[in-house]
Amino acid sequence: MSKTVLITGGAGFLGSHTADALSAKGYSIRIVDNLQGEVHAGKWPRYIQRKGYELVRADVRDKPVWEKALKGVEAVFHLAAYQDQRPDFSRFYTTNTVSTALLYEVIAEKNLPVRSVVYASSQFVYGDGAYQDSAGRTFFPELRREADLKAGRWAVRAPDGGEAVFTPFREDQPVQPTNSYGLSKYASEMMALRLGKTYGIPTKIMRYSIIQGPRQSPRNLYSGALRIFISQALAGVPITVYEDGRQLRDFVNVHDVVAANLLVMKSRKADFQVFNVSGGRAVPVVEFAEAVKSITGSASPIVLGGYRHTDTRNAVSDSSKLQALGWKPKAGITDSIRTYVEWYMAEGFHKTAPVEQLKALKAGIRK
Ligand SMILES: NC(=O)c1ccc[n+]([C@@H]2O[C@H](COP(=O)([O-])OP(=O)(O)OC[C@H]3O[C@@H](n4cnc5c(N)ncnc54)[C@H](O)[C@@H]3O)[C@@H](O)[C@H]2O)c1
Repeated sequence: MSKTVLITGGAGFLGSHTADALSAKGYSIRIVDNLQGEVHAGKWPRYIQRKGYELVRADVRDKPVWEKALKGVEAVFHLAAYQDQRPDFSRFYTTNTVSTALLYEVIAEKNLPVRSVVYASSQFVYGDGAYQDSAGRTFFPELRREADLKAGRWAVRAPDGGEAVFTPFREDQPVQPTNSYGLSKYASEMMALRLGKTYGIPTKIMRYSIIQGPRQSPRNLYSGALRIFISQALAGVPITVYEDGRQLRDFVNVHDVVAANLLVMKSRKADFQVFNVSGGRAVPVVEFAEAVKSITGSASPIVLGGYRHTDTRNAVSDSSKLQALGWKPKAGITDSIRTYVEWYMAEGFHKTAPVEQLKALKAGIRK
């Protein structure tokens, strides 16, 4: 009998690609997903149907759901999450953190032989990360001040007011999440590692950078630069980028992330470790918007300006720790943009895009 892998949030973007890759390797797939309205409008997406997966519409906040879902499971990918920047703070913890506690609670209570838990965290846990001042001293800035952002002073300054240089996130540096999403993910990480070690449940923490590729739901327009830029480019409305567009991000292709997921699931060297999963290149957001414009052949102007107080100036991860296990990102931003555009058009999203809403949206952010 083939081994069963449970994927929570498996109807989503990363979960469905992870399911397809595991299925191709002969695993049986069980998906638990509540088909969150913001992502799926309550329906199983077509790409997940008729593949022989066990599809369970249920909520990871409910303990009985875990009790059933974990039966006979070899490995778990816990990807279901609430992701946004809205002020319903408690929902981040009930969905992201309480669900993680329930996962370990049920495994421990029933003494289940789960061999591997992969937890989907985010580079968001680093907050603004680490910088160096002109004397080469490392410091960890707080969120930029609202007064500076209002005045268009985007750069992070050193404590003495001088210039500061960003250094890519490394797994062993201090973390400083700047919003409820990041806080809920970091709390889940700590819990997963602690409970995993205490109860002997091999656990791997993945801090993904911005993942790109087909199946990223365009319904949830509030996060994900690519889906917003493409929606705007194809609707012929201005492509809106926060700040001066020079903020740095790193974008990683979904197939590279899937390869990382499968690698750590099997690797004993990855047990109880935290890994950055990143695209390997620091990209100014405006360059990303320009690439979208060029690939879609859009005449939309790129409009800069505005900000969100909890956005970090730069967010680029160093993935050398994962690369030491033999992983390497293969796809660049052009591949990701092109395949997403093809999928978006094939699904007909460009015909139903909410043009008025798109005009008001700003992008340049990450999950
Ligand atoms: N996509 C990215 O750029 C990115 C970056 C960093 C981290 N992550 C993390 O990776 C994971 C997968 O992200 P994604 O991009 O595939 O998101 P997604 O929104 O496409 O998928 C998440 C899925 O979780 C489901 N879900 C949400 N709440 C649920 C609940 N209470 N019970 C059951 N199911 C629920 C949704 O219906 C959805 O299908 C998430 O944990 C996310 O935080 C993603």
